[in-house]
Amino acid sequence: MKITGKINEVRNQVKEWRKEGLTVGLVPTMGYLHEGHQSLIKRAVAENDRVVVSIFVNPMQFGPTEDLESYPRDLKADSKLCEETGASLIFNPEPEEMYEDGFCSFVDMTGLTNALCGLSRPVHFRGVCTVVNKLFNIVKPDRAYFGEKDAQQLAVIKRMVKDLNMDIEIVGCPIIREADGLAKSSRNTYLGEKEREAALILSKSIFMGKKMVEDGERDAEKVKKAMRDLINTEPLADIDYVEIVDVNTMKSMEKISGEILCAIAVNIGGKARLIDNFMLMV
Ligand code: PAF
Repeated sequence: MKITGKINEVRNQVKEWRKEGLTVGLVPTMGYLHEGHQSLIKRAVAENDRVVVSIFVNPMQFGPTEDLESYPRDLKADSKLCEETGASLIFNPEPEEMYEDGFCSFVDMTGLTNALCGLSRPVHFRGVCTVVNKLFNIVKPDRAYFGEKDAQQLAVIKRMVKDLNMDIEIVGCPIIREADGLAKSSRNTYLGEKEREAALILSKSIFMGKKMVEDGERDAEKVKKAMRDLINTEPLADIDYVEIVDVNTMKSMEKISGEILCAIAVNIGGKARLIDNFMLMV
C-alpha cells in the first residue's frame, strides 16, 4: 500500500490502474479511523479492484469556534488499519496541497443544507461539498463510500452528484455501534469517563424513537418530544436538534410517512457534539 500527499502521484497511479482496466473505489475520511471507517473500506475493497482512502482534516468544513485544531490525528494507526483492510493507496495531503494560494472556487448548495447540522454549522456543507468535489476530480473513482451516521452529508453528496452529473456511484453504509449502542465516531475520543456514560443517551433515544415509529406512531412531534424528554434526563446532555425529516429533501414533517430520517445532535458535557440517527421507510 502506498501513501502520498501529492495530487499528481494519485493521478498517475489511478491512470496506471485505468490502463489495466481496473475499477477504483474512494473512501473519503478525516482520519483517526475506527470500525465505522473500516466497514466502508471493506465494502469498497469487496466492490472495486483498487481502493483509495483519503485522510484529510479539511479546514474548510470547520467553523471558527469548532474543533479543527484539536481534531484527533494518528496516521500511523490509520495506515495500519487501511493496509490490513486491503486499501491500495492513502492520499494524505497537507492543506496547502488542496488549497493553493488564491483558492476561490467553491461548491455550495441550498435547500438540503438549510436544515439539521447546516443550521448550527453554517459553513460546514460548503466545505464538505467543495473538498469532496476536489477528491472526486483527483481520484475519479467509479464508486465512493460514505457512512449513514452522517445522514445529511450522504443526502447532500448524493444530490450534488445528481445535480452536477458526476459519473460516480455513491454508496451509503450502515452505522457501526459500540457494544453498548454508542455510534462510532472519531469525536468519541473527546469524552471522559463521565461523558462517555452520558453519551449513551443519544443511542437510547434513537432506539426508543425508532421503536415508537415501528410500533405505528405517526405524529412526528410526539416522537420528537419523547426523545427530547429522554435526552433531557441526562444532565450532561445539551440538545442541538431532534428532527424528523424527509430523507431526500431534509424537510421537516408533521405526519410521519415515506422515507424518513430521524436525526439528533447533542452536546455532551461541553466536550463533544455528537450525532446519531435512524432511517425508515414508513
Ligand atoms: O465525513 C467526513 O469524514 C468528511 O466530512 C469528509 C466526507 C471526509 C469530507 O471532508
